[in-house]
Amino acid sequence: MTRTPIAQILSSEEVPDSVLVQGWVRTKRDSKAFSFIELNDGSCLSNLQIVADAVLPGYEDAVLHLTTGASVSVEGKIVPSRGKGQKWEMQATEVTLLGLAEEDFPLQKKGHSMEFLRSIAHLRPRSNLFGAVFRVRSRMAYAIHQFFQDRGFFWVHTPIITASDCEGAGEMFRVVTMDGDEIKLGDDEFFGKPSYLTVSGQLEGETFATALSNIYTFGPTFRAENSHTSRHASEFWMIEPEIAFCDLEGDMGLAEEMLKYLASDALENCSEDLNFFNRFVDKGLIERLEFVRDRDFQRISYTDAVELLKESGEKFEYPVEYGLNLQSEHERYLTETHFECPTTVFNYPKEIKPFYMRKNDDGKTVAAMDLLVPGIGEIVGGSQREERLDLLRENMAAHDLDEAEYSWYVDLRRYGTVPHAGFGLGFERLLMFVTGVTNIRDVIPFPRTPGSAEF
Ligand code: 4AD
Ligand code: MG
Repeated sequence: MTRTPIAQILSSEEVPDSVLVQGWVRTKRDSKAFSFIELNDGSCLSNLQIVADAVLPGYEDAVLHLTTGASVSVEGKIVPSRGKGQKWEMQATEVTLLGLAEEDFPLQKKGHSMEFLRSIAHLRPRSNLFGAVFRVRSRMAYAIHQFFQDRGFFWVHTPIITASDCEGAGEMFRVVTMDGDEIKLGDDEFFGKPSYLTVSGQLEGETFATALSNIYTFGPTFRAENSHTSRHASEFWMIEPEIAFCDLEGDMGLAEEMLKYLASDALENCSEDLNFFNRFVDKGLIERLEFVRDRDFQRISYTDAVELLKESGEKFEYPVEYGLNLQSEHERYLTETHFECPTTVFNYPKEIKPFYMRKNDDGKTVAAMDLLVPGIGEIVGGSQREERLDLLRENMAAHDLDEAEYSWYVDLRRYGTVPHAGFGLGFERLLMFVTGVTNIRDVIPFPRTPGSAEF
């Protein structure tokens, strides 16, 4: 008999008489005549309640030895549940112990701290919370592909190892090889020149957008920034659409449409897990996601946002001044206090943005945009790209970039240049938004942050 996932059983209107389930024991209670086993196989949040009569063959060897965390195979009949809350339960006909759990299994009780659970990242997917987080992570990855594929975007696999620093922030991990204890550099360098883990697939993505028109990347990116915040990881996944024949307006529209689509998809397809988050993690979660799905967002220029923040009368830790970056507290003021909804800030001063952004006619700003959401701040960063050869060259010089290193990128402006735009969505920030989980470390299977690369 093949295994039936518990999710499939619990969501069925009708079930076969006899099924095989396999999973891990969450709890067990013994009475004289029978034992109740709560079994979870990770296919959904709910456990299957199993009743095992004491007269079952092997009851003493198998069932009596089951403790929390043990793995087991159970054949039995699915019958209407006598308990509340669930439609079905199982009457066991055969229980086979697969693996005992030693007494010190760490997930015995509920209510462990997130810090403790991070220290057992290999076991935490078996807890209710992390099982739910990683099911939602999988679903959102699928929904992102669906969103773009349905709209005619092609998925491009941009390289993980690269020689260019897209964001120009110098926050890159170097890729080296070793000769014993010696790091090979200079003439011995593996790729013949310094190479790094990519911070963004955008520049390579642009080359494909100027051929296939609509593309997106979806892969890991790396940043060696020494930020110890709950929103920064050293290794994170990014989704970067790049659209030819598109301006900033179209770019902002696509980002908003995507966020609405993902909120809607999560509400529709992850309802059990979202209800759990809504109850135990963030009481306003579902209401917020419904708002995002159903209502319009706000847009404001950087210049107007700075004015608004200055006049707000709010005491901020960091200064608000034209020409300075907006800090997280400012972004959160805009989305949480002022607009009370997701907000796109656009047209930033050119000095605080990378070389590839398109200069606006005012000569001061570039066609950049950040989509900010309540609770997190920036979730998307994007721009229209500078497609004019002479202006791109000026920008590169202003950013001290060696044009020879980026000749392939400059070529795109020499051979059939087109207006184009794109953005990057931080996948983990999206997951924080969709689950209400407040620390990025808790939406990544094995998080990498400064000082920590365990597992
Ligand atoms: O704003 P960023 O740096 O933009 C880019 O990398 C552009 N090349 C994107 C593009 O236009 N194609 O990063 C994009 C998003 C941010 O809005 C944020 O959500 C996420 O990536 N992000 C991080 N997420 C987790 N940890 C970090 N250290 C992150 N840095 C950026
Ligand atoms: Mg950004």
